[in-house]
Amino acid sequence: MAAILIIDDEPGIRLTLGSILEDEKYKVFTAEDALLGLELLNKEKINLVFLDVLLPRLGGMEALEQMRRDFPAVEMVMISGHANVDMAVRAVKLGAFDFLEKPLSLDKVLTVCRNALVMQKLREENRSLKKSAYLSQVEIIGTSAAIKAVREMVKQAAVSDARILLTGENGAGKEVIARAIHLGSSRADGPFVEVNCAAIPETLIESELFGHEKGAFTDAVSSRKGRFEIAHGGTLFLDEIGDMSPSAQAKVLRVIQEQKIERLGGEKTIDTDVRIVAATNKNLEKACEEGRFRQDLLFRLNVIPIRIPPLRERPEDIPLLLCHFLKNLGMELELEVDAQGFLAAYEWPGNVRELKNLAERIAVMYRGSSINAAALEDLLGKKSGESPAGGRPGKDPLPQGIFDRNFNDARDCFEKHYLEFQLSKNGGIISRTAEAIGIYPSNLHAKLRKHQITIPSTKEER
Ligand SMILES: Nc1ncnc2c1ncn2[C@@H]1O[C@H](COP(=O)(O)OP(=O)(O)OP(=O)(O)O)[C@@H](O)[C@H]1O
Ligand SMILES: [Mg+2]
Repeated sequence: MAAILIIDDEPGIRLTLGSILEDEKYKVFTAEDALLGLELLNKEKINLVFLDVLLPRLGGMEALEQMRRDFPAVEMVMISGHANVDMAVRAVKLGAFDFLEKPLSLDKVLTVCRNALVMQKLREENRSLKKSAYLSQVEIIGTSAAIKAVREMVKQAAVSDARILLTGENGAGKEVIARAIHLGSSRADGPFVEVNCAAIPETLIESELFGHEKGAFTDAVSSRKGRFEIAHGGTLFLDEIGDMSPSAQAKVLRVIQEQKIERLGGEKTIDTDVRIVAATNKNLEKACEEGRFRQDLLFRLNVIPIRIPPLRERPEDIPLLLCHFLKNLGMELELEVDAQGFLAAYEWPGNVRELKNLAERIAVMYRGSSINAAALEDLLGKKSGESPAGGRPGKDPLPQGIFDRNFNDARDCFEKHYLEFQLSKNGGIISRTAEAIGIYPSNLHAKLRKHQITIPSTKEER
């Protein structure tokens, strides 16, 4: 049953309108002024308000504004005995559903009431659909201590307005975390605007960030808002900040200091209220030392640092994430014991994104209710423990006690293991191995002889 609140200082209106609505089986509340009305809105679950314009204490129009702001889900219908078109237009602009003139017509009241309630239901459905679609995008999956710590930091950092610098390898989840920060902040209803600093050519980045006026440069045929302006009241996500050009860095620093922007070719300054979350997979401290990134900008951006650990540092999250992605693709799959081992031993150089890609490949190519290590290896096209970044096979640890030997012995021992690994990685082909590790083939041959390493006979030298 929908609940309706009538706010009118005339007792006659409260009585007649109230009894008409009660006859239609609505639950009715009444208040003789807007302040009492606000108290009822706080206490009761109300769907629709009939609000008089001329009221003592707090006027109807001001009350409308406040109620739309504080109770956006409640529909508002204004009623007045002194209505004019200007007033009606203003009310609708402030978010009223309709405007009725007194004396009220029974038919009109009931029609408006029904329509307003339908509208309210649609709006609510729309809101919850949008929210669930968005939430599924920003859900941070994982039960490892490492990801729990990140989640906790996100929760704490989100409520402040402090700038945050996210660091983490490719595909580790920087964007997911940035969105979660936005959603957990008081800016959640404002925009979340993303700028990929690496994807925008150096010549365009400033216009992209700050906007431009018509004629500011050759291609500026019309004026355009920049991302800072668009993000007003919300969060600006500066992704891959380490790739920003020095002149853009200088400008961003100025905007942060002054909280104002100027469009390219523009004269006036525009106030901005933007929370910056930046992200990078680079080591910015090192970039500063090498003069590629401004120390003062890093200092400003890095108020709260959050490091997102790579997937290999939180292996217990891997099966969980895989099952989550598969479920989203409408698939359920049991991981056999060796499959779990495989997932934990693999290096995941592409982190969660690589795992998500694997889930997509499974959904397209795999039929079966359970999966083992061999099938995963096939789908991934790689062996567990073998990383394109050049990791060593996990099954072949360095001999125990290597660190206790003298330097020459330890070096020889390492050299032997290293060469065996590189040779097998390069298919046993001497010329390819030599090129990959940067020595002459003749030199490699000599070393292999020294360590008595035999070349697999099936592989032919090319
Ligand atoms: N903890 C997580 N829970 C659920 N999904 C995740 C999680 N972390 C990452 N993802 C998903 O993995 C993919 C990669 O994450 P994201 O784009 O946030 O990584 P990134 O660090 O921004 O990568 P890049 O450096 O390449 O831009 C996305 O599809 C994201 O939804
Ligand atoms: Mg990203």
